[in-house]
Formats: sequence, C-alpha cells, structure tokens
Amino acid sequence: MTEQGISNLSNENRRFEPPAELAANANLTAEAYERASADRLGFWAEQAERISWSTPFTEVLDWTKAPFAKWFVGGTLNAAYNCVDRHVEAGHGERVAFHFVGEPGDTRDITYANLKDEVSQAANALVDLGVKTGDRVAIYMPMIPEAIVAILACARLGAPHTVVFGGFSSDALASRVEDCDAKIIITADGGYRRGAPSALKPAVDEALAKLGDTSPVQHVLVARRTETDTEMTEGRDVWWHDVVATASTDHTPEAFDAEHPLYVMYTSGTTGKPKGILHTTGGYLVQNAYTFWGIFDHKPDDVFWCTADIGWVTGHSYMVYGPLLNGATQVMYEGTPDTPTKGRWWDIISDYGVTLFYTAPTAIRTCMKWGEQIPAERDLSSLRIMGSVGESINPEAYVWYRDNIGSGRTPIVDTWWQTETGAHMMSPLPGVTSAKPGSAMRAIPGIDIEVVDDAGQPVGNGEGGYLVVTEPWPAMLRTIWGDDDRYKETYWSRWENLYFAGDGAKKDDDGDIWLMGRVDDVMNVSGHRLSTTEIESALVSHPKVAEAAVVGAADDTTGQAVVAFVILRESAGDGGQEVVKELRDHVGKEIGPIAKPKRIMVVPELPKTRSGKIMRRLLRDVAEDREVGDSSTLADAGVMQLISDGIGAGKGDDD
Ligand code: PRX
Repeated sequence: MTEQGISNLSNENRRFEPPAELAANANLTAEAYERASADRLGFWAEQAERISWSTPFTEVLDWTKAPFAKWFVGGTLNAAYNCVDRHVEAGHGERVAFHFVGEPGDTRDITYANLKDEVSQAANALVDLGVKTGDRVAIYMPMIPEAIVAILACARLGAPHTVVFGGFSSDALASRVEDCDAKIIITADGGYRRGAPSALKPAVDEALAKLGDTSPVQHVLVARRTETDTEMTEGRDVWWHDVVATASTDHTPEAFDAEHPLYVMYTSGTTGKPKGILHTTGGYLVQNAYTFWGIFDHKPDDVFWCTADIGWVTGHSYMVYGPLLNGATQVMYEGTPDTPTKGRWWDIISDYGVTLFYTAPTAIRTCMKWGEQIPAERDLSSLRIMGSVGESINPEAYVWYRDNIGSGRTPIVDTWWQTETGAHMMSPLPGVTSAKPGSAMRAIPGIDIEVVDDAGQPVGNGEGGYLVVTEPWPAMLRTIWGDDDRYKETYWSRWENLYFAGDGAKKDDDGDIWLMGRVDDVMNVSGHRLSTTEIESALVSHPKVAEAAVVGAADDTTGQAVVAFVILRESAGDGGQEVVKELRDHVGKEIGPIAKPKRIMVVPELPKTRSGKIMRRLLRDVAEDREVGDSSTLADAGVMQLISDGIGAGKGDDD
C-alpha cells in the first residue's frame, strides 16, 4: 500500500508515502538532514564534489560582508566544461543530452559530444564577434537547441548571459538590454507556436531602433528556425549558420573564479523597474547539481523533462545547469501543449519514456479542464517522479496529477524556490517524505527556513507568518545588477540577518510549511511573476489613462489573473469596449502578452487611504466578486459605491 489514510479524507489531509522501491534506492535519504544540520558548511563542501574544480576552494563561505556572500572562496571552474566536456571525457559522448521535439513534429537528438562541438563553435563565433570575458550577452530565443548552446557558449567564455523570455515585447527586451549593457543579442528568425511560425527577429529590430544611438549592441546573431523572410542589417546582423556552424569545434575552456558572474535574470519586483538578479558560478552550480540529483532522484537511465521556458529561472536551473551537470538525458519541446492535439505532452512522455517530469500547477489545472480521458489514452507508466513549481499546487490538482498522470503511484515533489534562490529550497524528498497535497513541506537538507511573525520571531505550529531563509545558501542571488542598495533594501532590511522571500506561509500542527502566496505587490499568473506597479505604469503610459490600479484576482486556471481598474482622461470619452481593448493591447506591447489584464474596469475613482495609498484589498474584493470588506480607512467613504455603480452600469469588461 502506498497511500495512508482513507479516501473520504479531504485532499489536503491525505498523505502519500514514497513507493517502497524508490525509498530503498533513493539518492537522498533522511540521514542527509542530520548530516547537514550537524555541519552545514561541511555538507555543502561535500556537495561541491559533484562538480569539477580547476583550482580547489579554500573556504566554503565568506559571510563577513553580509548580505554579500562569497561561496567556495578561491575555487576556479568553467561552467560549460562542467555541463558538457567532462561527460565526454568520461566516455559518455554518445549519450543523448537532448531529445528535441519541434512543434511541427521534427525531432533531433543531440548527444553530449554534439553539444560539446556546437558549444565550442558558438564560443568561437562569439569571440570573433568581439565578446570578451565579462561582457554581457542577451539571448532572446524560442525553445530550440540553439538557445541551450547559446547559454553554454556564454558560460564557457565567462560572458554573463541574460535570457529574455521570447514572449516579452520589444520594449521589455530593450529595457533589459539597456540595463545590463549587452554587447550582443542572440535570437532566431522565429519559432513555432500553435501550429504556425511566430517571428522573433522583428522585435529585436524594434528594440534596437528604440534604443537608437545609445544602444550598446554591436551584433545580432540570428539562428534560422522558421525560414521566414527576415530583414538583416548589414554589418550588425549575422546568421548562426554562417558564423557558428562554420566555426572550429576546438575551444579550450578557461577557468573562472567561483564568484564570476554567470547570468543576470530579470524578474518583477514591487516597483515598475524589473530587477536583474545576479547569479555567480560556483555556488549556483553546486546547489543545482545537488538538487537535481537529490530532489529528482536522478539516475543515469532517467529521461527528464521540464516544461518551463528557457526564459525563466526554472529553464536555467532545471533544463540547462542542474540536469547537464548530472549528465542527464532530457526532452526539450518547442511548442504549446495542445498542438496539434491536447494529448501532445502525454504523447511525448510515452514516445521518449520520460521518467522524471517537472511542470507547473497552472498546466495541470488546464489539463484537468481538458479531461482525464486524454492522458488515460496514453501510456504514462514510465513516470517515476513528478515535480511542481511556480505556485502552491492546490490539493485537488495535486491528487488529479498523481492519479491521472502518475498512475496513482508516482510521488510529487512540490518545490518552493525563486529566481533569487537559484535552486530548490523547500520540497518533500521523493524517497523519504510522507507528502501532503498542497504543502512544499520543509527545507531540503542544507537549507534553513523559518516562518516568522512581524517581529521576526519564529511562529509556533498552527500559526502563520512570513517565509524567511535564515542562513546564506550557495545558489543565492549575489546582488541586483548594478544596485547593491536595492538588493539590501529588498531582501535583507525587514529583519536583521534574515532573507525575506516575499511569501506568506503557515506551519501546520506537524511543523510542515504551506505557502500562502505573495505578501507584496507581486502577482503570480500561471507561475510567472508580474508586478502590479509595472502593469500600472504601462497603463498610465497610455494617453487615455489618468490613473490605474492593478490587482491579482483568484483564477481557477492561472492561479491569479490580472485585473485592472482605470480612470480615463476626459478626452477618452466614456470608456467603451474599444478603449478597453486598446489598453489591453497597449500592456501587451509594453510588457508582453502574459501581462495583458484579463479584465479592465473603467471606474470614476480609486479607493485610497488618507495618505493616498491605493487600497488594493478592496479592489480585490470587487475583482473576486465578493462583498467589499472594511473600508473605514478610506479618505472618501463613497468611493466603493461609485465603483460598484460603475461596474453595475456595464462599464466592466470580461473577454
Ligand atoms: O511566491 C512563490 C512562488 O513563486 C515565487 C517565485 O517566482 P519566480 O522567481 O518567478 O520563480 C518561479 C520558479 C522558481 C515565490 O516567491 N512559488 C514558486 N514555487 C512555489 C511557489 N509558491 C508555492 N509553492 C511553490 N512550490
């Protein structure tokens, strides 16, 4: 029996024990908790042996300049060598690194030996284009193997990459390129989405036109995928097939300091300006090598598939670095889950015998809507561990996932972490933990996490508070690119020596932790972080908008949905559906389609306190069709009535 408890328990009260065979052969066992708590730094020094160092480190952690950490001090290494070359040297050159599956149905298997050649060629080509160690390279690509090659080529040269999600707009690309001063952009003509080519290069041209004379970009390297007509600017733009495919496959990797910058990943914060999260080399690689091995219980015969896009941190940590450091075989899929049929993902799992699968709750909820018949028609028996990331997985989706994708026996690892943490921080251990649907359970061995109250004191079991990390960890962000003060202020200022993650959490009666969502002005839509302020800024940048307030409202599929309240300028008229559409498109253009509000309500006023702060709580009540809560601190008590009247009069939009 793999499940304790009786089926009439509500889902969140169920417990799932690890399958006996998995428990008996698990990479990470309960003993690791004891070892790590007895000697935390010694434990991390042991994990550091999972990667190859050119020069050994002399000190595990230097925290004397907290909150600026140095891990594995004095060590030197090359990230790409660790991900690729050393597996070839160990005789695994013929092992498949990626089974690439294109959306139209084309496939390509790339071995570790192929990957080594292609990464070396790309590194040589980048050098020819003028890239030097320390230069930043922006990558704006669809989900094609060249994206992985590009990332690894940058890592090989010690040129920090900044990958911008391909769904972001040209404006978002331009601001990121400008912020990190990128010398090169690597892109593609396009990629396939929903059965058709979707162009990408024009957005790069627009971004560079926008930056104009101040653009730091010297060259654009373009991979060919869709073969659509693509404008190339003479002297600036070059084709991948001209300069990479023809370059030498010999490239000797240089060793860099453990603290050498590996990449910058932009993420939404509580202000309008995205934060460039900086990850460095040694610590980031160690924690990713360790968590991929331990949390996914990776064995050499496994086939791993992470459905995240390469443009998010999950794609970096669990499609590039974690799996490749372990010499894993993976699936990489270009397109959408419902092209050409709603069974596409499950066909891929059965075609490649995927054993380890990592996705987000919003995807599971979408599959729930499509019905259990679709996975039931496919053979998913190869799966042995399934992961979840991005938001709390609601117990119903968890049990559906386990029953319908995991054949009722496959354990689920609900992994809590962030762009800032770089790698898994909390998760059940697949071979150890009696898992509770909806709970990320507790910190993994080597990580220290607490739930604290307003005074920064740990809460008792059965109580709620704020999630904090109490000790530095190897894959932690080192700073916000170019803004050390914002780094200190955002993460370390609320309580002394505690990293504040921005999440609310509660401890249950056993001391297991349940995440309760963000406590700041950050929304979580389909597992993606969006800032209310960023979308508000986009809205007020439209000439017809006088003021805007944005909230995240509960949504059955996406977790939260963006709902905007706007006050229009006189000149905009009374705000019919056309204006609403115009505003949605404007946000799509400013940030990207994922940020488009699901609903925009045109209102005459916004609820504000006497000090002028928007009371988003009240707007959330309206957005979630609830009775409006306590509004006694409003400057103008009649505002909520005005808002409700406006909506009653049909000025809201819901498309
Ligand atoms: O609120 C938490 C939520 O996602 C946030 C981090 O978002 P991002 O940096 O975009 O990274 C997403 C992928 C790592 C967290 O602050 N979150 C992520 N995983 C979980 C989660 N909330 C609950 N349970 C999780 N497993």
